[in-house]
Amino acid sequence: MRTMIVAGNWKLNLVSESAVELAGKVVKSAGGDGPEVLLCPSFTLLHTVCEVIAGSRVKLGAQNLFWESKGAFTGEISAEMLLDIGCSHVIIGHSERRQYFGETDASVRRKTQSALLAGLKPVVCVGETLDEREEGSSKAVVEHQVNGALERFKPEDLSNIVIAYEPIWAIGTGKTATPETAQQMHKMIRKLIGNMFGSEISDGIPILYGGSVKGNNATDLFSQPDIDGGLVGGASLDAESFAQIIDAARREPAGD
Ligand code: PGA
Repeated sequence: MRTMIVAGNWKLNLVSESAVELAGKVVKSAGGDGPEVLLCPSFTLLHTVCEVIAGSRVKLGAQNLFWESKGAFTGEISAEMLLDIGCSHVIIGHSERRQYFGETDASVRRKTQSALLAGLKPVVCVGETLDEREEGSSKAVVEHQVNGALERFKPEDLSNIVIAYEPIWAIGTGKTATPETAQQMHKMIRKLIGNMFGSEISDGIPILYGGSVKGNNATDLFSQPDIDGGLVGGASLDAESFAQIIDAARREPAGD
């Protein structure tokens, strides 16, 4: 069964007023049916956005967490805190966190584990750099990241995990992977998860594409058999573009 998801990663953007306005528009675009729609604002906006989306189909996610549940870790936020404020999801291991904040496969695994333990659904991000793509090691890099993030989990854990493949060279650059290139990587990731946890798990796990998803390329991307929606940065800040992306996912049949 294919689950389509469109997630908006607002990154370090917006304040209360603009967030309320945008979230209100997203509630309208999400409507009564279609893909799962997820908004991931900054920590400070979680409460505000939670109030706007209450009673709608839109779900709330955070952009990061820390793996400890409490204690002397100034400035950190735990999975329990995210759950408490209304989150159902959390993005883990985004390439910007790996690049600027030193996150590794090991920290991604610990964070994923703490999210699962608390009952949050982790959206685990993987993806290669431009150099890695050019030297032909994309598949090996992504394979290593998927292995590193998911090893030691049990098959039942996997039913609550979402994967996002985001080639770093495509993030915020306007350069989207072609639907065929993205499909190849998604298929490889699904196969790898199948080898690790069995085909029932790999058939059901949503694998999102991220990296310059826009209203005008979402349909071609989402029509690929192994692309189950998108993790959207820039275009999620524009209500109209995000609505087009939701509509593109809505046109995809839910089952396989
Ligand atoms: P982008 O960002 O859509 O702006 O490329 C995607 C992401 O980083 O999740």
